[in-house]
Amino acid sequence: MPAYQSYLDAHQERFLTELLDFLRIPSISALPERTEDVARAGQWVADRLTAAGVDNVETLPTGGHPVVYGDWLHAPGKPTILIYGHFDVQPVDPVELWTHPPFEPTVVGDRVYARGASDNKGNMLAAILAVEALLQGEGAAPVNLKFCLEGQEEIGSPQIPAFMPQHRERFACDLAVSADGGQFSETEPLLLRALRGICGVQIDVSGAYTDLHSGLHGGRIQNPIHALSQILASLRRADGTVAVEGFYDDVVELSAEERAAIARAPFDRDEYLQKLGVEEEFGEPGYTTQERGWIRPTLEMNGIWGGFQAEGIKTVLPNAAHAKITCRLVADQDPERIIALLQEHIAQHAPPGVTVNVTPLSIHGKPYSIPADHWGALAAAEVLTEFYGREPYQTRSGGSIPITGVFQEQLGATTISFGFGIDDENYHAPDEFYRLASFRKGQRAYCRLLERLGEVMPAE
Ligand code: BES
Ligand code: MN
Repeated sequence: MPAYQSYLDAHQERFLTELLDFLRIPSISALPERTEDVARAGQWVADRLTAAGVDNVETLPTGGHPVVYGDWLHAPGKPTILIYGHFDVQPVDPVELWTHPPFEPTVVGDRVYARGASDNKGNMLAAILAVEALLQGEGAAPVNLKFCLEGQEEIGSPQIPAFMPQHRERFACDLAVSADGGQFSETEPLLLRALRGICGVQIDVSGAYTDLHSGLHGGRIQNPIHALSQILASLRRADGTVAVEGFYDDVVELSAEERAAIARAPFDRDEYLQKLGVEEEFGEPGYTTQERGWIRPTLEMNGIWGGFQAEGIKTVLPNAAHAKITCRLVADQDPERIIALLQEHIAQHAPPGVTVNVTPLSIHGKPYSIPADHWGALAAAEVLTEFYGREPYQTRSGGSIPITGVFQEQLGATTISFGFGIDDENYHAPDEFYRLASFRKGQRAYCRLLERLGEVMPAE
């Protein structure tokens, strides 16, 4: 048995206690009142890296939530691997739908319930513990290591594009490995081939100086809610395709082989619909459900507000209406261009009699794809095959991790995804949980992956 394995086996109890401590920190990056807690989670992570034996641990300011850095660079001639994860979490509302309080982690059988348990604290801690087992158990790691652990992923990493160019040297690496990722099921691995990009806008429609009596003024001046509804209705056709001119221009169609690889990942439509509580699917014609979520871009309204919302009746002609919209993007769509197209479309479809303002959201991520034959992806696939006794499915994610595009552009580094969450773990939803079996498997698999990466980097 490798020494790292004995080390892991000997310390599982402590590791679980540490995971629970980490999960108790309510590091919700979206809420200003939680800023201190995000910083506290960063400090917790920094201390954890130091305890693992990582050198030069530092909490770096970004102008927003911090980034934690650390390195261990004592493997001359071996590749430098940048381990990525995020210690911030999503908000917890509606909190009354949680069976256990989101920041009082509760172990039930093989599961730990808490916000961030899977996305991404559990997965990220597994990677750190693997490094500890290598450094403390083996006395050295098989590769050079760096860490980039951030506190702003769940709000779209707004400060990262300005931050990374100032730290190029520090984060320079041969490959990034993201602990924010998952597997297909408990028994089936996946090799993530792509993440979608993201961008969005807020639309603010305003009319008169104030709210007005709808009997006196209705029918005489434009109603901002009606104007907004018209704009929103114009964005998408009844069949689910996006009606913004030029929206699909840069979309790369996948080859027949790539689509066949996607079709190989099993998908039970009835089970899917049942789990969600909806009766039928809805989406772009000509694509399977998996394809609609993975390889096609979307436009979704995330929120809409304005006018009278309370109980009872108020005959008012509101003076404002608002909506937030995000688009998920695929290669080669560019977030900036999509925002420009949205602005143009909205300007053209704004009815007269109101003022329409369109503001880009701070969320900004390029679509990201990973070539299946990249040496890092091949090493990950090999290790997963060894662990699961079968080859990984080649899947994609509908979600986004904006920093992957920044690693590519600023560091010239490919990011492979190596995480052990499973899509049923209620990410971003009430009762998020993580499987303790995944926590342990992740630790071992990270040790194996780093070992393998130490052997396979192609010569320059
Ligand atoms: N972990 C997710 C992304 C993800 C989900 C990767 C499933 C692989 C499989 C990440 O934390 C996330 O939720 N990202 C946000 C980014 C957004 C706020 C810019 C997302 O996709 O909504
Ligand atoms: Mn997330």
